[in-house]
Amino acid sequence: MNPPNIEILPTNDGSVTLFLTDMEETYHSRHGAMRESMYVYLRAGVVDALMALGFLSIDSISALKKERFRVFEMGFGTGLNAWLLDELCRSFGLNYSYIGIEKYPLVTEFSERMEFGFAAMGVHWRSVNGGFWDGLFADGVAATYRGRWNEIFEIGYEKVISRVPVIGSGIKKVSGDVLVDLEQVMPMDTELVFWDAFAPKKQPELWTVDLFARVWQRMRQGGLLVTYTANSQVRRNLLTAGFVVERITGPPGKKHMLRAWKD
Ligand SMILES: C[S@@+](CC[C@H](N)C(=O)[O-])C[C@H]1O[C@@H](n2cnc3c(N)ncnc32)[C@H](O)[C@@H]1O
Repeated sequence: MNPPNIEILPTNDGSVTLFLTDMEETYHSRHGAMRESMYVYLRAGVVDALMALGFLSIDSISALKKERFRVFEMGFGTGLNAWLLDELCRSFGLNYSYIGIEKYPLVTEFSERMEFGFAAMGVHWRSVNGGFWDGLFADGVAATYRGRWNEIFEIGYEKVISRVPVIGSGIKKVSGDVLVDLEQVMPMDTELVFWDAFAPKKQPELWTVDLFARVWQRMRQGGLLVTYTANSQVRRNLLTAGFVVERITGPPGKKHMLRAWKD
């Protein structure tokens, strides 16, 4: 799954994603990669899960607990979700640990090409965000890529824009196959799961009752799994695996998405 089978694709919000030409599958929504990540994984995921677990309150813009919460992602991919998580946690002062598993790590040469894409995207976002994103895209995504595999690292920036250090937080990307390595990689009592596998039609083996039950086992009571799809078979599989499932409004361009709570 490395070049030449991958192309960089601009999406409707000005951000870029990857397109696998053989599989005819994108890493994020063509309606807006950035918007999808922010909506599905940050807004409907991190913010709501942390409010439910008492890390944040509706009237507080800073963390209520010092404790570190655990995030596990199925499909590290380009690192966009990991990097956005880091950004959000730093703005709230939240301590987190993130582990993302990836079967097909992108090669460095390709990652560098992606940086150009994100740098271009930074130019676009700068025009709508008054400079806030200047440098962040290129530097942030580059740092997420360059972090070493299978080790915890912090995202550092060359151009620093009011970075708040979050003690003890960090990202770990692990090369492995979720079907084989889940129990070795996903920590027990994980609070939040980003389930960002390719579409159920393309990789049905990543959306089964058996795999969801294994994930459920390792989650904390009250924890949340979020995913971009609203596929009805996925919904049934999550229910059978033991989750309480909600179908909620999806990001722009998508009617619905799923959230699954470990009650
Ligand atoms: C939709 S993309 C994830 C996008 C990613 N979250 C991001 O922010 O860029 C799905 C990812 O799952 C990875 N993947 C596919 N099969 C896998 C497996 N069995 N175990 C772990 N990762 C897998 C793919 O290589 C791809 O990077």
